[in-house]
Amino acid sequence: MRYFFFACLLAIVLVIGFAGFRGDKFSRPPILLLNDMNNQAKVKPQASNAFFADGVGSRKPVVATVPMGLTIPSKPAAEGGYVSYGFSHGSDYFNSGRIGEFWGDGFPEQVKVDEAFLRLGQERYNINCAICHGTSGNGKGITSAAQYGIANIANFHTPGFTDPKALDYRANGSIYNTINLGKGLMSGYGASIPVKERWAIVAWVRAMQLSRTAPLADPSVKEVWTALQPPAAVK
Ligand code: HEC
Repeated sequence: MRYFFFACLLAIVLVIGFAGFRGDKFSRPPILLLNDMNNQAKVKPQASNAFFADGVGSRKPVVATVPMGLTIPSKPAAEGGYVSYGFSHGSDYFNSGRIGEFWGDGFPEQVKVDEAFLRLGQERYNINCAICHGTSGNGKGITSAAQYGIANIANFHTPGFTDPKALDYRANGSIYNTINLGKGLMSGYGASIPVKERWAIVAWVRAMQLSRTAPLADPSVKEVWTALQPPAAVK
């Protein structure tokens, strides 16, 4: 009987202990047995902070920095200018890579493939894609099976990417779409690469292919490579 009494008491204490105080408010910090990152040093929004010289917790963007993808409007808002972040998702060729039901090839009229555009593509490709696809596009980047184990990374120099007559040929629109939304094992990069830069990367993929397949004597290849030599160092 005595044990039963103690068991009852224990049960009551436990029930009250676990459930009884739920929803109550305390002015003092709770007692935490496991302190799972509940308390961390952080700057609270709109609070002052002694760490910074001016004592203001919420920091302003660094002077002269531009948020990723931001396009400065060419005319004032009153005249219809607007700030575009370059991540729109329309259904036209520029935004989707599709023309009707099909992948389009060639480049949309919104972009002009010139030296600056290829350089942009090269830079963006080397930042976003080269770790997997390799700086030459052969699918042997540092993360690949040859080194750190990601299997089946696409090699852009296989017929499925270079030969328009191949059954599985990826047209420009398809490559654009893979950059935007990903495909199979590859996740999409649309959230961090604005539309124009995605097309610049497509152009760079084509340039890499050209550099491997076309004979060096081909004047267009010579032109591309001369244009892409690193700019002479400023003296
Ligand atoms: C984390 C590694 C990784 C990164 C980074 C990456 N890819 Fe991929 N990519 C893959 C893998 C893996 C595949 C093969 C996917 C499959 O077939 O399931 C692939 C496939 C592709 C394909 C072929 C899709 C098809 O039609 O079969 C294209 C085109 C492509 N990637 C382009 C890019 C471009 C451009 C970038 C940079 C914006 C990029 N990838 C970044 C891993 C990556």
